[in-house]
Amino acid sequence: MIKAAVLGFGTVGSGVVELIDINKKSVSRHVSEGMEVKYILDLREFPDSPYRDRVVHDFNIILEDPEIKVICETMGGKEPAYTFSRKALERGISVCTSNKELVAAHGPELLKIAEQNHCSYLFEASVGGGIPIIRPMNTSLAPENITQIIGILNGTTNYMMTRMELEDISFEDVLREAQEKGYAEKNPAADIEGRDACRKIAILSSLMCGKTVRFEDISCEGISHISMTDVAYARSMGRAIKLLGISERDEEAGTFYVRTAPFMVPASHPLHGVEDVFNAVFVHGNLLDNVMFYGRGAGKFPTASAVVSDMMDCALNIGQTIRIRWEDEKMELSDPGQKITQFFVRVPASEKARAQELFPGCVEAAPGCGPDDEFAFVTEPVAEAAFAECSSRLSEVRSAIRMLAD
Ligand code: HSE
Repeated sequence: MIKAAVLGFGTVGSGVVELIDINKKSVSRHVSEGMEVKYILDLREFPDSPYRDRVVHDFNIILEDPEIKVICETMGGKEPAYTFSRKALERGISVCTSNKELVAAHGPELLKIAEQNHCSYLFEASVGGGIPIIRPMNTSLAPENITQIIGILNGTTNYMMTRMELEDISFEDVLREAQEKGYAEKNPAADIEGRDACRKIAILSSLMCGKTVRFEDISCEGISHISMTDVAYARSMGRAIKLLGISERDEEAGTFYVRTAPFMVPASHPLHGVEDVFNAVFVHGNLLDNVMFYGRGAGKFPTASAVVSDMMDCALNIGQTIRIRWEDEKMELSDPGQKITQFFVRVPASEKARAQELFPGCVEAAPGCGPDDEFAFVTEPVAEAAFAECSSRLSEVRSAIRMLAD
């Protein structure tokens, strides 16, 4: 029997423990010895849980037990998750995680420690919840020159945008729903302000180029400024507003444009129909063409399923490293101000003439859709820095949202 330990008995950690029980047969079909969670590390007691006897409060009990071969780290946050993961890897114990914050900050370092100690550091669940995307990036897509990744990478905000689109429900109420369903981060500002999606596109971009795309270097915008009026305009134009993480190869500079922001996605794009908590990652490879990975991006069992798949891989590879190509070297990114983009803009009606002068070739958007006192338009493709400069000359910009190309 392969003995494992789970660090953090929250939504995902408890899902991992239960899933290993519920799907015992599936697990042992692949890992013939079977797999068992021997310890659960948490600060809390769980007197009503059937797993209460496995709860420990001291990480050293796990570290010093030679039976433990795999650790599942579902604590979230950087510390003590980083210290515990590093110590385990240094002892040759593989670590599997859903902790995107830690992976985005220390991924290549922990991968190197794993390799030096003949074990593995795997993080399938850190991006897209239950969607297999990290493993395909590392295997099936390896022969490709990937030129674009566009992802709906945050279940909470996609759930919120979908509910706001379909029903007249307030931002606060719909956020509460997402929290109750266990989708949101402990501090949901990380979801709403785009930082969670930003960490995930940083991880995917790093795997895309094999170097480190630092999440701090990525231009990041969330959804808190999106109004019901914007949502109505998008619908009238046959589009839906989605928070996207985008990474695109800049062929001239040999690097990437990477951004997280809300976009108006056209109905013709496969990401348009991705609703509720679902996430999707759309990848363009130079010879493969387009491929899209779709599934539940958050929630207890979908995320746990991805973690357990990693734990099983580690169980099948004890004493050796499952390699992931991701070096510490920093990837310089292209200046996002030079990216050519079309914008949807709302200004007061009194600014119509000025807007038309500043943005020649702009087209009025969904006439009659919004309030009488405003002018909404779509710009021609323009460099983002030039757009920012021109729009600063308007007395008021009620909204400016990027349009995803067809
Ligand atoms: N808060 C995250 C989300 C959880 O909503 O996508 C999964 O990473």
